[in-house]
Amino acid sequence: MRLKGKTALITGAARGIGFEFARAYIAEGATVTLADVNAVALNKAVAELGPKSRSVVMDVTDQSAIDAGFAAAIADMGKLDILINNAALFDACPFADITRASYDKLFAVNVAGTMFCMQAAARHMIARGQGGRIINMASQAGRRGEGLVAVYCATKAAVISLTQSAALNLIAHKINVNAIAPGVVDGAHWDHVDALFAKYEGRPLGEKKRLVGAGVPYGRMGTADDLTGMAIFLATPEAEYIVAQTFGVDGGQWMA
Ligand SMILES: NC(=O)c1ccc[n+]([C@@H]2O[C@H](COP(=O)([O-])OP(=O)(O)OC[C@H]3O[C@@H](n4cnc5c(N)ncnc54)[C@H](O)[C@@H]3O)[C@@H](O)[C@H]2O)c1
Repeated sequence: MRLKGKTALITGAARGIGFEFARAYIAEGATVTLADVNAVALNKAVAELGPKSRSVVMDVTDQSAIDAGFAAAIADMGKLDILINNAALFDACPFADITRASYDKLFAVNVAGTMFCMQAAARHMIARGQGGRIINMASQAGRRGEGLVAVYCATKAAVISLTQSAALNLIAHKINVNAIAPGVVDGAHWDHVDALFAKYEGRPLGEKKRLVGAGVPYGRMGTADDLTGMAIFLATPEAEYIVAQTFGVDGGQWMA
């Protein structure tokens, strides 16, 4: 019960890694608001997680939705101690084919969404005067380019940079901002990634995912459960002196 009495808001938590973070936080004693654009999946998620979970339909690209969503979550839970910025979109295609629409959408969700959710949480945490924790989901993709993945890589590089700048400003208010950089994590998200690589690299469906998993030094793709330990640790008192860092939790993939 390392998060007993704590409250958290997790964006993009209706499925995948965000949902497993919500489950893990609740198991550690926290109350969690799951925020997502997918209302149907949110209802299912909250039904599964039980009374320590709440949901708010919130599109992180819409400032009025962020304002209303944070206000509702804070009113409902009484305060906000922890924000996890997890909502993100992925896209891939040859560089010459990148569209402005794809670029704008990925930057709106992955970068502006992260930025303005951080700001909404920080404003509440500063006003409350009791500090807080913000954890951003970056990626190994933010630490190097990939031929077919220019825009997603750039958004995750921006998340690492925003983590650093926000952290350096907000630590004066005892708000610790850090990030997690996963490698390849199995789940519905990767079916989409695999299908894009199948299209552009001329592979059968499933092959890219199998090859990528086999290439991880640990010997397999990650699971959401592989990441929950870091997400919990960064919210505990033991992590109080950790500021502006991005932690790889990737089975050694980026280093390799
Ligand atoms: N799965 C991986 O291999 C991997 C690797 C590195 C980093 N990551 C990062 O981890 C995080 C979670 O990944 P995942 O695999 O669970 O993704 P996912 O696609 O399974 O889940 C993302 C969630 O975000 C929600 N979402 C999308 N747009 C939104 C918006 N505008 N507002 C609110 N919610 C929105 C979706 O509805 C979905 O529930 C992301 O930030 C992703 O970039 C994932």
